Amino acid sequence: MTLPSVRKAIFPAAGLGTRFLPVTKAQPKEMLPLVDKPTIQYGVEEAIASGIEQVIMVTGGGKRAIVDHFDRSLELEHYLEQRGKSDLLHILSEVDDLSNQVDITYIQQKEPLGLGHAVWTARRLVEGEACAVLLADDVILSENQPVLKQLIDAHHMTGATVLAVRRVPRNEVSRYGIIATGGSKGGIHEIVDIVEKPPTADAPSDLAALGRYVLLPAVFAELDRAEPGAGKEIQLTDAIKRTIGRQPVVGLEFEGDYYDTGTVPGYLRANLMLAMKREGLRDELAPLLRELLEASPEPR
Ligand code: G1P
Repeated sequence: MTLPSVRKAIFPAAGLGTRFLPVTKAQPKEMLPLVDKPTIQYGVEEAIASGIEQVIMVTGGGKRAIVDHFDRSLELEHYLEQRGKSDLLHILSEVDDLSNQVDITYIQQKEPLGLGHAVWTARRLVEGEACAVLLADDVILSENQPVLKQLIDAHHMTGATVLAVRRVPRNEVSRYGIIATGGSKGGIHEIVDIVEKPPTADAPSDLAALGRYVLLPAVFAELDRAEPGAGKEIQLTDAIKRTIGRQPVVGLEFEGDYYDTGTVPGYLRANLMLAMKREGLRDELAPLLRELLEASPEPR
């Protein structure tokens, strides 16, 4: 039996971004730029390139800038048109085009009760369908297939809930959801257990879930009766875990470059690495970085 296509993607974007204060006091962290593009735009582009038709943004208070970013700015267009700035108009039209290719729906998470709760907030919009979840903090860029497309293909092959997984250094396992595997074949691991942010000694493996999911409807049924878990938050990991045994759950070792932009060092690293991949910027940055390293000033 062919499974229906995965049409909808949930973007939990209601976090308070406290790790980035003060810049996130009046600005959503999803709008922080990676070079010159807001982090969340990378995720939306990936969803579109993976065949998603509807993006569901779960937002909290103070997230107006996300709505405005994916809307047209007639004022700015007019301003640029009058000055004949066709190159800049082109950049604007590329962003506008995203919301022509996909419907973007916004729904409010009324209380910050955790990732599982944010995903559950969108339950009525995805009822009965397998859907994708993308964590915008986790930027994954792939030369070939977008990572979400890789997950959707794995879902179609296995009929399973699919998590994007990758090996991480042992001393970092406590930052992630970590899977225990039954068997593995061609980069697809059967998941027999998942633990959210385990202490290093208790981690069942070094395979971490990295911010991309295709969820079967059964996960939403579990979110319906979810209780707070690690960090007193309703965890998506726990709901997925409770479907194991009744529904297939697999982890896909994906192909692509992963950038964790959710911490200040990770965010700075991502900016530098992406800037160095940009023609024009690389030429300006490379000598500057060499100069900085040679001078190696003490951090203040
Ligand atoms: C979330 C998930 C965790 C996952 C991680 C990936 O944690 O709960 O399972 O490994 O994203 O980035 P967060 O980083 O939001 O605390």
